[in-house]
Order: sequence, then structure tokens, then C-alpha cells
Amino acid sequence: MSDGLVIRAATAADADAIDTVHRAAFAATAYGYQGEAELVRMIDADRDALVSLVARQGGDIVGHVLFSRMNVEADGKAIPAAALAPVAALPDKQGQGIGAALIRTGLDMLCEQGAAISFVLGHKEYYPRFGYSSELASRFASPFAGPHFMAMMLDSAAPWPLGGRADYAPAFGRMG
Ligand SMILES: CC(C)(COP(=O)(O)OP(=O)(O)OC[C@H]1O[C@@H](n2cnc3c(N)ncnc32)[C@H](O)[C@@H]1OP(=O)(O)O)[C@@H](O)C(=O)NCCC(=O)NCCS
Repeated sequence: MSDGLVIRAATAADADAIDTVHRAAFAATAYGYQGEAELVRMIDADRDALVSLVARQGGDIVGHVLFSRMNVEADGKAIPAAALAPVAALPDKQGQGIGAALIRTGLDMLCEQGAAISFVLGHKEYYPRFGYSSELASRFASPFAGPHFMAMMLDSAAPWPLGGRADYAPAFGRMG
């Protein structure tokens, strides 16, 4: 892990620094900035954030991850679920384990909160290392279904649901 890295819960005072991280990180991607900073603010305003963590290094906020409440039905019953999105590290801080530290800490906290499943829509080479699987996600009907849609049971010993439906928090529908 990166030297001197501290992962802690985000506070209201971090809001501008979190904006900066997402704007810089997503602007540097192939698909460009898509309004991820506004998404974080909308999810917070809707009180749909379950876990929001910042990575701090040398006094600066260098990364952020948000897990938000989802509406998920598995084998006919509602189960507590969290979407991982967005996650970002400042461009000059990437590849040092900051994203991984944010995601792993967030998944541990979700587990403690009693979440049963987490979903992510993203790089299919990156998220499987944390336990996310496109095979599990493919059992759930979702507008995001496809090879980049992945899911993981937070208790790795839990049986996989056979089928269901996965809906993101309303703020995702108001993006861009
Ligand atoms: C994705 C991101 C959060 C990862 O954070 P990070 O601190 O750089 O990641 P880590 O140091 O924990 O892990 C580095 C690994 O991520 C991989 N990675 C980073 N971006 C990737 C991408 N676009 N596609 C596939 N893998 C990627 C690297 O190849 C590296 O893999 P390796 O360990 O096999 O060498 C960061 O690169 C980022 O902010 N990217 C721009 C915003 C973004 O794309 N967010 C995710 C949206 S799905």
C-alpha cells in the first residue's frame, strides 16, 4: 500500500476535495468526465450513501469511494445491497494501491453494516480481484446488465441467489 495513506470516513468538509478527485480522475479516462462529482453530491443529498471514504496522503485528499443503497430482490425477497460507484484516485496517484485500499475498507464496512451483496459497473480486469463476478451479476435483471456489470456476496460463504433484480439509487437515473 501507498506510504502514509489513511482511509477514513468522508465528512461534509471533504466535499470540494472529493469533487476535485472525481473531476481530475474521470477527465483523464478514455470516456471522459461524466458528472461523477455531481452524482456523489446527489446521492449524499438523497441520503442514499452507505459508505463514503476518502484516502488522505500527506494532508491531501487523493482518493474517494462511495457505496450507495440499492433496491435488490434476490429469489423473491429484498436483500440489503450496495453499489460501488464512483471510485477514483488522482491521476498522479494511481497504481499505488489507493483504489484497492478504499474498496477493501469499504467492503469490510458494508459487511459490518449487514449488506448482503454489492454490485459494480466497471473495468472487468480490476474488480474481480476484490471478489466481484460478472457471472453472479448476470443472474440479476438490470438496465446495466452486460460484461462490465459485476456482483459479489459480502459473505463469501453465502450461496449465490438464483435470480433477481438490481436497481441503483434514483440519483443514477438523473446523471448527465
Ligand atoms: C480505477 C482506479 C480507482 C483504481 O485506483 P488505483 O489506486 O489506481 O488502483 P490500484 O493501485 O489499487 O490498482 C492498480 C490496478 O488497477 C488497474 N486499473 C486502473 N485503471 C484501470 C482501467 N481503466 N482498466 C483496468 N484496470 C485498471 C491497473 O492496471 C492496476 O492493475 P495491476 O494491479 O494488475 O497492475 C483509478 O485508476 C482511477 O481513479 N481511475 C479513473 C477513474 C475510474 O475509472 N474509476 C473507476 C470507474 S469504473
